[in-house]
Amino acid sequence: MSIVSKDIQKAITLLTNEELVAIPTETVYGLAGNIYSEKAVTRIFSTKKRPFFNPLIVHISGGEVLKTIVSHIPEKAKLLADAFWPGSMTLVLKKNDIIPDIITAGKDTVAVRVPNHPVTLKLLKQLPFPLAAPSANPFGCISPTKPIHVERYFKNDIQQVLEGGSCTNGIESTIIGFENNQPIIYRLGALAIEDIEAVVGKVSIKNKKEHSPNAPGMLARHYAPATKTFLVEDIASMVKSQLGKKIGLLVFKDSLHDPSLTEIILSKKGSMHEAASKLYDSLHELDCKKLDVIIAERLPDIGLGKSINDRLQRATFSI
Ligand code: TXA
Ligand code: MG
Repeated sequence: MSIVSKDIQKAITLLTNEELVAIPTETVYGLAGNIYSEKAVTRIFSTKKRPFFNPLIVHISGGEVLKTIVSHIPEKAKLLADAFWPGSMTLVLKKNDIIPDIITAGKDTVAVRVPNHPVTLKLLKQLPFPLAAPSANPFGCISPTKPIHVERYFKNDIQQVLEGGSCTNGIESTIIGFENNQPIIYRLGALAIEDIEAVVGKVSIKNKKEHSPNAPGMLARHYAPATKTFLVEDIASMVKSQLGKKIGLLVFKDSLHDPSLTEIILSKKGSMHEAASKLYDSLHELDCKKLDVIIAERLPDIGLGKSINDRLQRATFSI
């Protein structure tokens, strides 16, 4: 029997009983548990096989809950929260003592966001506690943007995926930390830097490829399909070099017009937003096709293109 269901009351009961529920957000599905339940939070790590050094994002119902979990809100954090919450932005701020160390991997900061999804906002408003929710995929695998993706990963581990349709933004939130009260991007994501800079001026980026002290989850290889995947500028010549193999192609807007290839076009009209929303689903789809190799095309390095390239880079072998 499917574990996907719209029953919000069931989700409330499970979460209140310290169980996990996969929840929809506008970025990706999350594997959620009560932040104050050690049992639930430990289960999040073990279910995902996630190392304990990688802290979790706390999901809250609105900006007004923020002051109960953080000890200081820089002026620019207030501006950003007013501009983009509910939405695809996570703020990393100094934590209050009430936040358990297991959530923050012992750090003195906590990552927090208000997700912009009607079902999950409704759920959060009815719960007396916030939800810790990493993306609902096993550590290192492709993030889920549809209930079926989560069900495939975790049908034997959790009792419910709360149905919320396909994620409209499709890649994880942009994470912003503060150093000397100035915003710094720790992870590129579904909110474009250009939009952030329109509110707070120039921001610097520390979106490290390697094991990083700022966002410990940002390992170089992450979000990866099981099929060997390459990220290239020039797909036509890469295809030639892989002749004789079963090839999957992930292109931005222009087809290669080669019927012998399994091709997915991210956005025929060239919309970065549409491309982001389809990115992980397309990787899931190609990964299920038993191909020898997937070749992905690098997008223009502007706006959300930067975030998409960042995810593809981590999913692939670059040449
Ligand atoms: O869109 C999203 O952010 C999704 C949905 C479910 O909300 N969540 C998500 O969570 O992407 P996860 O666990 O896959 O990624 C959380 C990232 C990790 O890279 C982690 O290192 C970073 O947030 N993080 C969490 N707490 C942090 C902290 N105190 N300081 C720096 N980075 C932190
Ligand atoms: Mg993740």
